[in-house]
Amino acid sequence: MFTISTIIFFTILYNIYWYFLRKEKSLKGKNVLITGGSRGIGRLVAEILLSKEQVNCIVIWDVDQNSLQECQSTFSKQYGQDRIITCQVDISDHEKVYRERDNLYELFKNRKLQNPNSECSGSIDILINNAGIVNGKPLLQTSDDRINMVLNVNTISHCYTVKAFLPEMIKNQNTSPHIVTIASAAALCGTSSLCDYSASKFGAFGFNEALRLEMKHLKYNIDTTCVCPFYIRTDLFAGIKDVIPYLFPVLDPNYVANRIVQGIKKREEVVVIPEMLRITYLLRFLLPVSVFDRLVSWMGISSSMDHFIGRKSSDDTTSVQSDSNKKNL
Ligand SMILES: NC(=O)c1ccc[n+]([C@@H]2O[C@H](COP(=O)([O-])OP(=O)(O)OC[C@H]3O[C@@H](n4cnc5c(N)ncnc54)[C@H](O)[C@@H]3O)[C@@H](O)[C@H]2O)c1
Repeated sequence: MFTISTIIFFTILYNIYWYFLRKEKSLKGKNVLITGGSRGIGRLVAEILLSKEQVNCIVIWDVDQNSLQECQSTFSKQYGQDRIITCQVDISDHEKVYRERDNLYELFKNRKLQNPNSECSGSIDILINNAGIVNGKPLLQTSDDRINMVLNVNTISHCYTVKAFLPEMIKNQNTSPHIVTIASAAALCGTSSLCDYSASKFGAFGFNEALRLEMKHLKYNIDTTCVCPFYIRTDLFAGIKDVIPYLFPVLDPNYVANRIVQGIKKREEVVVIPEMLRITYLLRFLLPVSVFDRLVSWMGISSSMDHFIGRKSSDDTTSVQSDSNKKNL
């Protein structure tokens, strides 16, 4: 008991130091690539980075051509054409990821040649692996293709995008490059109708854990942040019901986006939203499994997906559209 309370005490002290006293890193002048950034949380993060953090340039890779076009035109008007690059990329297609990485660096080079003051030049300093999809059905009602797609987009693609941009990050270690993984609270605690999604987010969380340790072991000065938010009020989880409204309400997307940016600036290794959910870590290992399961059920988490609608099918672009329309520059 003494050991547990000592550990908790020092953990709280460490978190206070980390949260309040640690110097924030400046994002000014950085080039940021956000996967799935044309809608939802990724888009809000892009807006904050452009409007408040003075990043040089945002590159958005998304599979949905319509929202990419709309995003390109809105952001160009608001923040300048030179600060936004959008490109249709299905991140689960590894060949496409590496090809578009090469195209992007070529584009950076050409822009620099044409205009030495170009904002978009150099390489990617911050990679935000944000794109995600959800099926939201019991396992027996989910086709194998959809299961594969969820795992490919939410987990395996992170290996491709990190492999694509890590070599340049290693060359530019003095600029403190950063890799961000948007996982989920579903990476801390499973629930009904989210078997494939939860597996994919546990996978993304595990990927980030190993990556962080690998960067430290290989002595690379590259920061990592893994974000685990509870349900957020975006179209991805439309129809979701509040779980204990005062304790765990469905989160406001703007709050989550701001918290992600803050986590990057403070170089937080794991961001759990809301903070209170961290207790799940402790309870999972301390409580007998049957007691933990009862608690999850009693809190309404097990039934939280009962009214799930998700993105409407016409809006669901998880299957790749035309590969021909490559870039909106
Ligand atoms: N909304 C929530 O409740 C919630 C909770 C926890 C974690 N998350 C995670 O946060 C991230 C963002 O979620 P959101 O709510 O903004 O969802 P969203 O659906 O609004 O945005 C996700 C974006 O990813 C894009 N995308 C999907 N498949 C892609 C692919 N193969 N290649 C490239 N882009 C692709 C979509 O087109 C979309 O623009 C996801 O990883 C999600 O799992 C969301």
